[in-house]
Formats: sequence, structure tokens, C-alpha cells
Amino acid sequence: SKSIAIFASGTGSNFQALVNAFAGRTDIVIRALVCDHADAPVVAKATRAQIPVIVVDYRTAGSKTTAERRILAQLPPIDLIVLAGYMRILGPTLLNAYPQRIINLHPALLPSFPGRTGIEDAWHYGVKVTGVTVHYVDAGVDSGQIIAQVPVPITTGMSLEDLTAQIHRVEHQLLPATVRQLVQGGTI
Ligand code: GAR
Repeated sequence: SKSIAIFASGTGSNFQALVNAFAGRTDIVIRALVCDHADAPVVAKATRAQIPVIVVDYRTAGSKTTAERRILAQLPPIDLIVLAGYMRILGPTLLNAYPQRIINLHPALLPSFPGRTGIEDAWHYGVKVTGVTVHYVDAGVDSGQIIAQVPVPITTGMSLEDLTAQIHRVEHQLLPATVRQLVQGGTI
């Protein structure tokens, strides 16, 4: 069986989608949530799902390296890290500890619209197709090798709110499906 840790910073709707998708499965087990804010809604979701929570505040840690060492020290043995709305760029401490074992969800079709506001940036640019990407994490910003993408058309009359809801619906399907595929394909 494969063990995963999920890193998330905020709402945690994708964390919840992963919890729901893997509930009752013994081949994929969520061992921990890592969060950088103790009061983020995702923390309450993990507590409710009885998933151990590791909170590391980067500001009190003082540096990214110290924060990542604290995370590493608390993580149980895992096969995969899934970044699901984790709003931090990973440094070498975590990247070197899990080579080719960290994936990220991004709410746009990379390499277009990297960064924290991919949905809004695509909408304001006026592209007719955006989407969702799952990719390996490297030292850059949303620059690692792409694993899976699903397009989302931006149709006439669609509001930013409509697009945001549609992107999230696609994310909630694609992220669990991609983790399943990596496990069942023997990649991790
Ligand atoms: C998701 O849309 C995810 O793609 C995005 O944050 C959101 C988290 O939502 N990630 C990024 O923008 C990373 N650059 P959630 O907390 O409800 O899962």
C-alpha cells in the first residue's frame, strides 16, 4: 500500500476530494496533512477526517529551510507528497528528500498562467480555453514535468465565478484520478 501526505494552505476542497476518493481504500492511505496556517479551514477538514495534522508556521520558523526541516522531522514514511493548494514554493530541503515524489495541482493549462492566480489570470487575459494541470514539482514556479491536463473552455457570458466553479469541479476529479494512476501504474 502507498502512503501519501497532502500539503494545503487554505480551504482544502481538493484535500477533501482526495479524502473522499480514498476513503475505505487500503492501497492508498493519506497519512498526514501539512499546513502552513493553524487556522486554515483545511485543518478542521483533516481533524474531522481523523488525519494527523502537521502545522508549520514559516514566519516563526524564520527561514524556509528551518520550516522544511521541521516538516521533514514530523512526516511519517510516505511514498508521495501531493500539493493541493499549498501556497509556498518548495526549497531544496523538501525537494531533495522526495525526488520525483512531489506533485502539484495548478488551476490553469501550464505553461500558461503559472503562479498564485491562474484562474483569474486566464480569465482576464481572455483565453478561450484554460484548464487544470497536475505536474511534478521542481525548483521553479509551476515548471516541473506535466503529468495530466484537462481543458476547460471559457464560453461567452461565463463569469469569473462560473469559471472558478468549473475549474474546481475538474480539479476535484483530476487530482484523485492522477494519484490513483501513479499508484496503479507503479510510478510510485
Ligand atoms: C486550487 O484551485 C489549486 O489549484 C490552487 O489553489 C486552489 C486550492 O483550493 N493552487 C494554486 O493556485 C497553486 N499555484 P482548495 O484549498 O479548495 O483545494
